[in-house]
Amino acid sequence: MNFHNDISASALGKIREFVYRTAGIVIGPDKTALVTGRLWRRLAIYGFTNYDAYVNFIARPEGADERDIMLDLLTTNETYFFREPAHFDFLRNEIIPRQGSGTMRVWCAAASTGEEPYSIAMVLADCLGTSNWTILATDISRKVLEHARQGVYRAERINHMPADYLKRFCRRGIGEYDGMLAVVPSLRAPLNFELHNLLHPRPEQEKFDVIFLRNVLIYFDNPTKQQVLNNVLQALRPGGWLILGHCESLQGLQVPVDTLRPSIYRKPITVNKNHVERAETNSQRAAFSLQRAELAPHSAAFGRIAS
Ligand SMILES: C[S@@+](CC[C@H](N)C(=O)[O-])C[C@H]1O[C@@H](n2cnc3c(N)ncnc32)[C@H](O)[C@@H]1O
Repeated sequence: MNFHNDISASALGKIREFVYRTAGIVIGPDKTALVTGRLWRRLAIYGFTNYDAYVNFIARPEGADERDIMLDLLTTNETYFFREPAHFDFLRNEIIPRQGSGTMRVWCAAASTGEEPYSIAMVLADCLGTSNWTILATDISRKVLEHARQGVYRAERINHMPADYLKRFCRRGIGEYDGMLAVVPSLRAPLNFELHNLLHPRPEQEKFDVIFLRNVLIYFDNPTKQQVLNNVLQALRPGGWLILGHCESLQGLQVPVDTLRPSIYRKPITVNKNHVERAETNSQRAAFSLQRAELAPHSAAFGRIAS
């Protein structure tokens, strides 16, 4: 059998249905080549001769790990440092100067392999130092989060990073890590990486000052976008900022935010005394306190970057 494209309509339908139900991601009925191109090796690993057998397997309790792997393979994790740089300029020039004296809390809500939350962290560290801010970086994929936690990247991934940031916030790999870069531990420490599905709400008490939700809504249909935005907005404090990808918009959706620029929004500050900006209590702040990111085990194998 040719695994590359020979999939029954029933197996394709079940895979599409699973991905939609689990992650909200729409895979069109014309995406046979995408599905088979990404999954055929999995069939070979198990010795299945057709996709129906594979689909039956992942539907069983013992197929739970394989379901995660399949989801990983069918999601798009494309990302890079300082993607859509205008958003980082906005963070630096418009958001950070308006931040009060408290800890600034940022949620990077589809963080993929970490380039986006580390880019945010570099701007925050540059403007605020390495304390007084935290970043929660979440994704539905365990695999990309594991990569993000390590903070180690191929050197060619840093094309868009300002030279000054490269020198200050990255270390070059030595020996077996030649050709790699590691983000410095001081930048990793205020980041927490967590598995989170955007179809589900965050805990009620968590409130963020800024939420980056970039380049993920494009994979959802309108009802799912609405559900995700409801969840995300609930976690944004009044007066907080929501940043989407440049090619994403809120058109056709009910989202109570003010548009500041295309793709940049602000949640109105309500007058309801239960929701006044920054009204959360110390105990709520304590509940929010994020556990420190694990430090990558390779620190000795990375050295300073000369200018
Ligand atoms: C194209 S990447 C975007 C990465 C980054 N935000 C950027 O703009 O460069 C999309 C990410 O969204 C994640 N994702 C897809 N569906 C999700 C869901 N339902 N919940 C959480 N993350 C999801 C994928 O795993 C993937 O890492």
